[in-house]
Amino acid sequence: MKIFTYLFEKFVSLQKWEMGSITGLALLLSFFYTNISSSIIAKIIEAAQKKDENNMYLGFRWFIYASIALCIVYYNYKIIQNSLLSYLTHWIKTELFSFLLKINNENMSNTSFVNFITPISRIAHSASVLLNDILTNLIPTIGFLFVIFGYFFWKKWELGIIFLLSNMVIMGYLVFISSAMFEFKRKQEDMVVENERYLIDNFNNLEKIIYRGEINYEIDEFQERSDECLNLTIKMMNFITNHVFVMNSMVYIIIFACMYYIIILHTKKQMDTFTLITFITILIMYRDNISDTIQSIPANIESYGRIDLISREFNVMIEENTDIHAVMSKITEYKTHELPFDAIEFRNVSFIYSKTTTPILQNYNRHIDLNNKIIGITGMSGNGKSTFVKLIMRLHDCTDGAILIDGVDVKTIDPFYIRRHITYVNQSSKLFDRKITENILYGCKDISKCNANLKEILTYPKIRELYRNVDLDSDAGPLGEKISGGQRQIANIISGLVNPTEILVLDEPTNALDPDLKRELLLILQNFRKHKKCIIIITHDRDVNALFDETIEF
Ligand SMILES: Nc1ncnc2c1ncn2[C@@H]1O[C@H](COP(=O)(O)OP(=O)(O)OP(=O)(O)O)[C@@H](O)[C@H]1O
Ligand SMILES: [Mg+2]
Repeated sequence: MKIFTYLFEKFVSLQKWEMGSITGLALLLSFFYTNISSSIIAKIIEAAQKKDENNMYLGFRWFIYASIALCIVYYNYKIIQNSLLSYLTHWIKTELFSFLLKINNENMSNTSFVNFITPISRIAHSASVLLNDILTNLIPTIGFLFVIFGYFFWKKWELGIIFLLSNMVIMGYLVFISSAMFEFKRKQEDMVVENERYLIDNFNNLEKIIYRGEINYEIDEFQERSDECLNLTIKMMNFITNHVFVMNSMVYIIIFACMYYIIILHTKKQMDTFTLITFITILIMYRDNISDTIQSIPANIESYGRIDLISREFNVMIEENTDIHAVMSKITEYKTHELPFDAIEFRNVSFIYSKTTTPILQNYNRHIDLNNKIIGITGMSGNGKSTFVKLIMRLHDCTDGAILIDGVDVKTIDPFYIRRHITYVNQSSKLFDRKITENILYGCKDISKCNANLKEILTYPKIRELYRNVDLDSDAGPLGEKISGGQRQIANIISGLVNPTEILVLDEPTNALDPDLKRELLLILQNFRKHKKCIIIITHDRDVNALFDETIEF
């Protein structure tokens, strides 16, 4: 719950005035509903019994004034509630999104980001439902219980004590069974989210399912998962409903006992009619109020379950000692550097991915001169070529030793500074669902230079031919699926090439290209080396070797 505690504390401190006012108004409302309404009604009934017309009209007038005051308070309460809840839903999404990006900025976790798509929307909704319930149900109910207890205690202290103790029994019961309910919910939530992920995974691989003729298999498989989930959900709901039923029965026992006691007092002439009516009215209000709260337990458990799930997801990503406040407020202050990017040095570097056992680098030493070079990185799949570059980019920090850029340890350099000077085009050829040109110019640090470079690249005949039937100002589609694999790959490479940074790293740039296009790309790289201090190319493709001034073998 580390992340949730952080969100809760931050939200309360950001919205302390609104939270304070709404809590105050909620308590005021419950005071209006109970004491004021019930005593006015009791006054009117008592006056009616005594045929005291004046007091009846007086009671009626008071009832109107109290109702007007109630409406005004309620209106203000709603206005604050609307803004608070709407703000919360949007705020949580933004906060979690920025947390996800910031925590991975300097140490990419092994987490699959797709896993967060469903829970982030669900947590935002659930947190808003939960807060709404706390504000509209829980706080007023607790306030309400205390007001009733106070009134009962004042009028008949033993009644107040009985009332308080019996309500504490209900709360004790709730606390006692809550862990079993949450455990049940946790299992069910895991299954629901698992199924949703299964759906997303299927949608991401829809083509494969259709091409391989696996439609019926997938439908049956999903049906089976859904049925299993449904059975568990029904079992869980029945389990909760049974306990809700027990608690509701306890409420009725309290009401019966109190009423019986009041009636006895009245028959023994130890209580006047006014007090009797007030008590009975309050007891009926108590029944409605507390029943609503008890009935909302399943919804609260639902919200809690979702929040618990995302908290567990985030916990996998957050190391034990991570300070969330520091991550979010980016307390790490880096010294400013003006580096020429002449050399990179690996000094006794060891690196192992967290939660794995095989080291990728062990006491690795290498000095790389970057001046006017095209450097190749080659070696077998899985040997650590991409990891090597990710360490330079500070996407991971080495476990031992040091990586130095121009003699400065990268751990002391702001990762944003490194990434403004080294452009890394990774192996993935995904695109944003934005215009293709927007994708190409993404992260560009000098738009006029980027446009000029782009113009130059688009004069190459094979590139022009590649995009002959594509409008570069049209959207690329989700992940870029509206254009071909080669078109996507070239769009990403061009994006790196046009950006006027000192160093360009291309990870497997030629794997989806036809021979002619590849030849042209090699020519472009040769021509563009004048714009760069160094181009580093990770590749298995021997045709690219001709470009290299130097090769690093893995
Ligand atoms: N985030 C990660 N968590 C754990 N292990 C990882 C992670 N990323 C890579 N690895 C492991 O580290 C090793 C090196 O991976 P890397 O991607 O650097 O290889 P590579 O040489 O670039 O391979 P390829 O040529 O296939 O791209 C692999 O065995 C891989 O399974
Ligand atoms: Mg790789």
